[in-house]
Amino acid sequence: MKLWNTNPVHGIRLAGGNGSTLYDDQGRSYTDMFSGTWCNVLGYGHPRLRRAVEEQAHGLFQTGAAFDTQQIENCLGELDSILPPELDLAVFLSSGSEAVELALKMAHAATGRTGVVVAEKGYYGGTVYALSLSEAGRNASYLPKPGNALRVAAPHCARCALFAECGDGEFPCLNVLEELPPEKWPAAILYEPLLGGGILVPPLGYGARLKEYARSLGALFISEEVTTGMGRTGKWFGFQHENIVPDILVVGKAIGGGLPVSAVVTKKEVEERALSVMGRHVQSHQNTPFSGRIAAEVIGAIRDEGLVERSAEMGELLLSGLRRVQERFPCIREVRGRGLMVGAELTPEAAPRGAGMSKRLVEKGFLQDFHQLTSTFRLYPPFVITGDEIGDFLKAFESVLAE
Ligand SMILES: Cc1ncc(COP(=O)(O)O)c(C=O)c1O
Repeated sequence: MKLWNTNPVHGIRLAGGNGSTLYDDQGRSYTDMFSGTWCNVLGYGHPRLRRAVEEQAHGLFQTGAAFDTQQIENCLGELDSILPPELDLAVFLSSGSEAVELALKMAHAATGRTGVVVAEKGYYGGTVYALSLSEAGRNASYLPKPGNALRVAAPHCARCALFAECGDGEFPCLNVLEELPPEKWPAAILYEPLLGGGILVPPLGYGARLKEYARSLGALFISEEVTTGMGRTGKWFGFQHENIVPDILVVGKAIGGGLPVSAVVTKKEVEERALSVMGRHVQSHQNTPFSGRIAAEVIGAIRDEGLVERSAEMGELLLSGLRRVQERFPCIREVRGRGLMVGAELTPEAAPRGAGMSKRLVEKGFLQDFHQLTSTFRLYPPFVITGDEIGDFLKAFESVLAE
């Protein structure tokens, strides 16, 4: 049997890790600037998470979806401590894609509508429906076409597809929502506070405006925080930069600290509307005691170690450092980010060299990725990354740009 590589791999055999450092089987070390695709926010070998896994190994892993457990009860308490009180119901699943699917299923059921507003360049998951709404699946001939997807321009002001200026809470890229006839009003607006693909950072006020549109169109507002959640942007959740509360919150990746946990959080009234039509939702790995234990410990560790604040602080260090590099290297077109979700975009002339530069960075011991669609190096390290590690990365980045 051989591994079926459904995704290109680096050809590195990882064997262990500690903090933000990973080791391969040859003893080489790497600084992780991409958290195992946004997941390992506590870094590797975190003592609290390790202890929780060891202890839970003596208890229950999975119980089927029809029982309560103390682990899930404790986790709900932890979620209460970081979320606004209106969001008072949560269900735990295993992956971001599954959680997105459930959020959309609820929105369709609750509203009886089929449409969904998404952003161009958005990514919502690898399952058939979530992928078909994503940029990555948009033109895929093998996928069913979601005739119900209404795509608004990507919220990337520097490359505004409409060449428009926004201000005073008005966003011309969203005007299309005003012109929708009632029969096209959507079930949901699927909002990514920052777009992980390309690290696109909407201007502040964009989320609040979208939320207003959701209200005026009678649609549910879903904050899709699979990448932005749990402190990544310098607040617990991306919607908190906008002083809004979503109708449904989707959390994934970071909440498991590297283990497969996701969650859909909602309001009682939304759940009642959805369940009156859906009847029920059941999956084998739903509300497992293992997920509850892990997620509760991850939330506790992020809170007790001040990692949300640290994400803001280290993110600022990385952003400001990259801006200094940009002054010296005009091949960097734009540096953008919020918290530890940071991107450095290359100019169109330099973009063909991006994948090679990314490979050179790996050779120099820095794991990151280069997003081809937006010609952007994406940097999203564990929240435990140190200032020294960021400094070392910046030096390596400069030396690769200079090659
Ligand atoms: C914004 C966003 N939503 C959803 C997903 C899907 O999550 P998962 O890969 O855990 O299914 C991803 C994964 O990269 C993502 O970035």
